Amino acid sequence: MNIVLTGFMATGKTAIGRAIADKSRYRFEDTDSMIVTESGMEISEIFERYGEEYFRALERKAVEKAAQSDGTVIATGGGVVLDKRNVDALRKNGIIFNLDPDFAVIEERVGEARATRPLMKGESMEEIRERFLKRKPFYDDCDVKIRVIKGRTPASYAEEILSITEEKLK
Ligand code: S3P
Repeated sequence: MNIVLTGFMATGKTAIGRAIADKSRYRFEDTDSMIVTESGMEISEIFERYGEEYFRALERKAVEKAAQSDGTVIATGGGVVLDKRNVDALRKNGIIFNLDPDFAVIEERVGEARATRPLMKGESMEEIRERFLKRKPFYDDCDVKIRVIKGRTPASYAEEILSITEEKLK
């Protein structure tokens, strides 16, 4: 069984996923890192040179591969949920946790997050907020929602997610 983390850019999927791996026997996998390794390019370079559609195709492949694993905590890219096939594949052997912040949490992190995220780079705060709202119904397709609040540590989310997982596997 896998633990799958979904959520908007900068909700903390990678940090929380790593914290889960640190505290447990789950291995850590990150679909963006798989894409970078497989393609030999940074995410921003893929977007710049080949566009979003091409990136989504690489992402599909990475998700299919990650979904085949077991005992893994999988941090997904923020757009993975846009393709229902991705969610279905991940759900077959995984519990899908959606990290769910208010937009204010994202707003605070945008300055830092922009540097590595092509979909935030050229956008105004209002445009990022629109994307956030548009994505909401896709993130709602999950098994467990975890509210993300300011100031809570990745380790603390990790503990909560591990204990819910244990309960569900009983
Ligand atoms: C994206 C999120 C990014 C990355 C790409 C596109 C998105 O991952 O996959 O820049 O569409 O939300 P993070 O959620 O890890 O930032």
